[in-house]
Amino acid sequence: MKSKALQELYVKIANCKCRCPGERKGAGLVRDRYNPDTGVVFLGEAPGGEEVKQGVPFVGQAGRKLDSYLELAGLSRKDVFIINSVKCRPTKNEGRANRKPTGCEVKACAHWLEQELEILSPRVIVTLGDVALRKFGGSKVRIGNYHGQPLVWNQIIVFPLYHPAAAIYRRALEDVIKEDFIKLGRWLKQNIKQ
Ligand code: URA
Repeated sequence: MKSKALQELYVKIANCKCRCPGERKGAGLVRDRYNPDTGVVFLGEAPGGEEVKQGVPFVGQAGRKLDSYLELAGLSRKDVFIINSVKCRPTKNEGRANRKPTGCEVKACAHWLEQELEILSPRVIVTLGDVALRKFGGSKVRIGNYHGQPLVWNQIIVFPLYHPAAAIYRRALEDVIKEDFIKLGRWLKQNIKQ
């Protein structure tokens, strides 16, 4: 049931006519192929070039990091369902490079994300990085103050984590991120996946 509703939504997203500024590519093409019924949704930022090419979230450099952290948490891709805050790939340099989505793009895409979350109706949303966290905590929150523990915002259970790519740019964060994923694994076992 969820798969069919998601499929229909992704067709609509692929035909998105929104005119937010900035170069963007691949709307609606990037979809998790595993199980939408896990109850655990990971919310990323936006797809990059590799994700649009393969049509799957987190398959580039950040994805390899994510896989290694999931393993530490005792999880695999089949245990979670991965989506993104922004549905197309924000690009720069005439489409040659990825970039962080602007606040305006995040807002323009928010209605797609809301429909997606409504279909998925997860028990917990694991946010990856600031962009995803701000969907629930507002535009001022910073991941550095919230990572590694569950929170309830507007009756939604959110477990904020650093974005896996943060470890690529700030090596000092790697141990913190690993520890947070281990905490997540333990917390899911006790609270969600008994
Ligand atoms: N980073 C994200 O936030 N999402 C992806 O799908 C890939 C990289």
